[in-house]
Amino acid sequence: MARYLFPFLIACVFAKPNIVLFIADDLGYGDLGCYGNSSVRTPNIDSIARDGVKMTQHLTAASTCTPSRSALLTGRYPIRTGMVATGLMRVNTWPYSSCGLPSSEVTFAEQAKLASYTNGYIGKWHLGLHKESLGDFMHHPLNQGFDYFYGTIGTNLDDFGHETKVITSLRPYWYWELFSIWAVTSVALWCLFRANYIGAITFITLIFIWSVPVTFVYLLFDNFTLMSSFLHRNYDLVEQPIRLAGLSQRLVQEGKEFIQNATNQRQPFLLVMSWVHMHVFIRTAEQFEGKSKFGRYGDALEELDWSVGEILKSLKDLELEDNTLVYFTSDNGGHLEIGTDGGYNGRLKGGKTHGAPDGGIRVPGIIKWPDVLPRGKVTDEPTSLMDIYNLVSSAVGVNLPSDRKIDGRDIIPLLKGDQDVSPHEFMFHYCGNRLEAARYRPRDGLKTWKLVTHEPNLVPGTNLCKFVCSCNYDVALATPKLYDMTSDPGETTPIDNDSKTYKEISQIILKAIENHKISIGNVETQFSWRKLAPKLTWQPCCNGTFPFNCQCTDPKYPL
Ligand SMILES: *[C@@H]1O[C@H](CO)[C@@H](O)[C@H](O)[C@H]1NC(C)=O
Repeated sequence: MARYLFPFLIACVFAKPNIVLFIADDLGYGDLGCYGNSSVRTPNIDSIARDGVKMTQHLTAASTCTPSRSALLTGRYPIRTGMVATGLMRVNTWPYSSCGLPSSEVTFAEQAKLASYTNGYIGKWHLGLHKESLGDFMHHPLNQGFDYFYGTIGTNLDDFGHETKVITSLRPYWYWELFSIWAVTSVALWCLFRANYIGAITFITLIFIWSVPVTFVYLLFDNFTLMSSFLHRNYDLVEQPIRLAGLSQRLVQEGKEFIQNATNQRQPFLLVMSWVHMHVFIRTAEQFEGKSKFGRYGDALEELDWSVGEILKSLKDLELEDNTLVYFTSDNGGHLEIGTDGGYNGRLKGGKTHGAPDGGIRVPGIIKWPDVLPRGKVTDEPTSLMDIYNLVSSAVGVNLPSDRKIDGRDIIPLLKGDQDVSPHEFMFHYCGNRLEAARYRPRDGLKTWKLVTHEPNLVPGTNLCKFVCSCNYDVALATPKLYDMTSDPGETTPIDNDSKTYKEISQIILKAIENHKISIGNVETQFSWRKLAPKLTWQPCCNGTFPFNCQCTDPKYPL
């Protein structure tokens, strides 16, 4: 009953609340002051925890960006929406593919639209662009419930800094391998020609035909910056390539203007600030360079905190603070393989791309909403980023869609302290389309359990993969491992599998996994080869025709 009454009460007692959601990229669980990091300076982000509720077991639906973000926006496990990889590629690597969040999904922005909100999305999208043809923008934010967009359709990449390249960090000998394959095949053709098996014309034609795809693949991977580094304002390309220095300041400016405009028009608003920090390539504005104790990463962290502070200040200046729901999170854990340019996951095991270990999926999650939620509360109960879907729906006063399964839960009673136990009895942890672990929070007692069925295939003698872990190489455990996440959050000591506890708890979890699997229908994957295949004619190019002169600077932000 309370579930239905609450949105109703909110709607008539208060003016409609505003909603500001901050999503950081690849920020680790241990990167913030309010999560116990004593040596970084994140006072603005920490202030959200001080003025609201901090969730210490806040979980993403995936350890990589694209699937995790799709779940946050839809309240559904990516396996239900097709946003899971079946092969190697787990994120929407290039914007000229047809992979993206299906428009049949109902995002929280579309929910807010039902309550006449004005919705803005500023920053990193990473959920697709076109679907059938160049210019259809089927996967673009403006077709997923948002009224205003400024940001990058894809993601930041190491290549954008002209230092390292993603593909060569994955496979250092990649160019050499590609060239060797080409050379060996060409020599073979030459032999056939010399032995008179094929004529000169055939030989030259075959060499030519064979060189085209090789050159194509080479150019594709060698030109990520030219091809993927651009900013849109709504449907218009406004900057190519992205000037990473000063980008945070532009995002802040866009966010502030959005809030100001909505307020001038007396419109309740939903604003997503999806920061490009902390993903590599890391670059900050000059005033943040070399200011932190932790190199480029620390500088960016301080710039991120400043950016959040600027938006919070805007809310304060416009006297919107009390009736605005503010949320801060990260799409997945810190990327450990890239060393000092990656985040810090505290004592948790693993990180970004690792699949089930908590370091990749347990992230900061803080919410303040002074009119409704208590100040300075901490909950250790498992919650999910998908719960934000329910939270937004309830805040705007709109019922959940009834024609589909929503995996998010109503966490308001938990956040308010009216309930002590997480509304999630079970949570499922995926790597790509494979379920690799499940979490169980019994309705009584204080413990949370996690049963792990697959582990990442780490480089022997280390806790890391090479550059990223690939779900395809994950190792199935002959006997699943059970962890007591309450007393062993670092997943160091599995419960003895001969014990009564193991047998009891693992039985319950395995049964829940079975039931969960039954609830998943047949969904078309967005990561098929056909969809992922680069469609060169779709390449955004702001000043003419690709590959010529694809360069522009937003007149709003001149050099
Ligand atoms: C704080 O965060 C930084 C940046 O990720 C990290 O290098 C450092 O180890 C963390 N320190 C503590 C005390 O948690």
